[in-house]
Amino acid sequence: MAAVLVGRPVVFLLALLRSCSGSFAAEMSKRQLTVQLNPGSTAPPPDGDLLHVRAVGDNDTLHYLFCSQGAPTLLLVHTNSASSTVKVDWPLFLARNTSGSLRVEPESSILYSTAVVFSRLLEYDDVNDTANPSDFFPPYELQSFTWSHLNLSGPVAVLCGSNNSTGSLCLQLSVFDSEGRGQAWPRLKHTVDSSQMLVWLDGLLPRANRSRFLLELQAVGGANPLSRVEVHQSIDDEFTPSIFKVSQWVSSVNDSSGILGFVQWKPVAYRQPNPSLENATPCRHSDPRPQSGQMIAAASGLIQAFYLGPEAFGLNVSFGIATEPFYSATRFLSWTAVVGVGSPPVDSFSPLVVAIMAVGLGTPVALLLLGGVWVCVRKKATDSPAYEPIN
Ligand SMILES: *[C@@H]1O[C@H](CO)[C@@H](O)[C@H](O)[C@H]1NC(C)=O
Ligand SMILES: *[C@@H]1O[C@H](CO)[C@@H](O)[C@H](O)[C@H]1NC(C)=O
Ligand SMILES: *[C@@H]1O[C@H](CO)[C@@H](O)[C@H](O)[C@H]1NC(C)=O
Ligand SMILES: *[C@@H]1O[C@H](CO)[C@@H](O)[C@H](O)[C@H]1NC(C)=O
Ligand SMILES: *[C@@H]1O[C@H](CO)[C@@H](O)[C@H](O)[C@H]1NC(C)=O
Ligand SMILES: *[C@@H]1O[C@H](CO)[C@@H](O)[C@H](O)[C@H]1NC(C)=O
Ligand SMILES: *[C@@H]1O[C@H](CO)[C@@H](O)[C@H](O)[C@H]1NC(C)=O
Ligand SMILES: *[C@@H]1O[C@H](CO)[C@@H](O)[C@H](O)[C@H]1NC(C)=O
Ligand SMILES: *[C@@H]1O[C@H](CO)[C@@H](O)[C@H](O)[C@H]1NC(C)=O
Repeated sequence: MAAVLVGRPVVFLLALLRSCSGSFAAEMSKRQLTVQLNPGSTAPPPDGDLLHVRAVGDNDTLHYLFCSQGAPTLLLVHTNSASSTVKVDWPLFLARNTSGSLRVEPESSILYSTAVVFSRLLEYDDVNDTANPSDFFPPYELQSFTWSHLNLSGPVAVLCGSNNSTGSLCLQLSVFDSEGRGQAWPRLKHTVDSSQMLVWLDGLLPRANRSRFLLELQAVGGANPLSRVEVHQSIDDEFTPSIFKVSQWVSSVNDSSGILGFVQWKPVAYRQPNPSLENATPCRHSDPRPQSGQMIAAASGLIQAFYLGPEAFGLNVSFGIATEPFYSATRFLSWTAVVGVGSPPVDSFSPLVVAIMAVGLGTPVALLLLGGVWVCVRKKATDSPAYEPIN
């Protein structure tokens, strides 16, 4: 009954808000994307592809490099030039023992760079269902996985790998030309300066019936790597129902304009290929810890090629908490993060929620105000005789 009554104003408000945000969108900044697989290479490299997406803005370029030579790595290089380029010395790049085999030129145009290495997949036997990671099985080193060629469709690339057993770990990188939101839950917001990474585990045989998994990530930078995680309250709205937090891994050094780079995620993973409320499972992260840059360069061809003396911090994202179903229930897990430069996106109320609040809160407030006015007027009318002085 109430729904029927409020239905019309909500639809109207929604249409109004949508048209407003539509006209804002037209003025939003955009980037021109160019996708290149193995730039400058004559033959597909034997040990994994190198994807280069140039995202050119008015005065700047964001270079996205994604590579599976060793552990899968995403490198973002932000330059203040609309004509900066990536140069790869392929023989040196493939030898994986020298820094400088991949350069962004001119070097003086580089404003900032940051990289994320997907280093290990950890599995433990949660015998007592406490989700307190211990009793680890030997880790899966992602650098020794066999990685497929990149499956490209526009600025979206999919990479799958396995350890010569059934099942696989896949990563999907999406680069965007403008601000927006992911299509599937958790529907993370992205800026024009960020990309989305979806990681999923499909059909991998668990080594125990009560196995749970962790994903180890390394954030690598030249001078200011991402070193601390901030957890903010997030607004619960139609995009990620029931999740009230957002975590962002940021550099602890600010320049005058704020945060330099980030990895942002919501603490939720999904246990089915079609994410929904029923198959959502919470996840947690450990505190970032300093790591050996040299060891990470040895694990990732892209880090070795681009950085000289990289600095790194690592953390683990663990999937599932006590009493949540174990991995073996569905043999599937997916998790999404946004990786970018500049300030992390900030969630706002969706138009639907704004409309519902406007109707839901606005109506009682209006009634209260009207009621208040009415009471005042009545009081004024009856007051005067009551306060007449008694002689
Ligand atoms: C681009 O650079 C020019 C001159 O360097 C400047 O006038 C303009 O405002 C810049 N545009 C943006 C979007 O930063
Ligand atoms: C790198 O490896 C190649 C072949 O694997 C070798 O010829 C070269 O000397 C090595 N370079 C360095 C700096 O170690
Ligand atoms: C599980 O619980 C049993 C009995 O309480 C205890 O002996 C054992 O150490 C626990 N195992 C783990 C991994 O916590
Ligand atoms: C992954 O495969 C390699 C070689 O096939 C093997 O040595 C290693 O033990 C495997 N790791 C796991 C965790 O199964
Ligand atoms: C590549 O992706 C497309 C669409 O996602 C899919 O239809 C196709 O089977 C994939 N190709 C390979 C070789 O995995
Ligand atoms: C992978 O598995 C196949 C069959 O299961 C086996 O023949 C092959 O030697 C394995 N390769 C490695 C690297 O373990
Ligand atoms: C998993 O549980 C089934 C029965 O519940 C048992 O037969 C099987 O051995 C268990 N597997 C492992 C790896 O513990
Ligand atoms: C970075 O800047 C933001 C806003 O400009 C501020 O809230 C934050 O505390 C700063 N962080 C550090 C470590 O200075
Ligand atoms: C992730 O967890 C494993 C197992 O506890 C630990 O050995 C590793 O150091 C952790 N990684 C980071 C970056 O904290």
